[in-house]
Amino acid sequence: MIGRLNHVAIAVPDLAAATAIYRDTLGARVSAPQEEPDHGVTVVFVELPNTKIELLQPLGDASPIQAFLERNPSGGVHHVCYEVEDILAARDKLKSQGARVLGDGEPKIGAHGKPVLFLHPKNFCGTLVELEQV
Ligand code: CO
Repeated sequence: MIGRLNHVAIAVPDLAAATAIYRDTLGARVSAPQEEPDHGVTVVFVELPNTKIELLQPLGDASPIQAFLERNPSGGVHHVCYEVEDILAARDKLKSQGARVLGDGEPKIGAHGKPVLFLHPKNFCGTLVELEQV
């Protein structure tokens, strides 16, 4: 069902500092910061040859990554994103197998302009999983 690893998302308390680590210390190509008010985050994309890293900083008072950063004050891996061909078919199959889909269960448009869903970490080895239709 799942295809390529689309990205790994890392929540960070200081986006400028995190961007500098990836750009200057690790020598990666990084994007300009992009505000995603619908998702409560500001994102910097780190482009690697085979995948992406998304650096996420909370945006606004009700950011979904705020509680994560309170538990992990220096930041940490927040979720992994796998590509699927048909997100509704994937959702229905996973739900029928007992997986919990977060939110209202309907795909939202993600940071890359494509439909995404999140799956509860309890069902997936303690890791928040994002599915993105490509
Ligand atoms: Co993501």
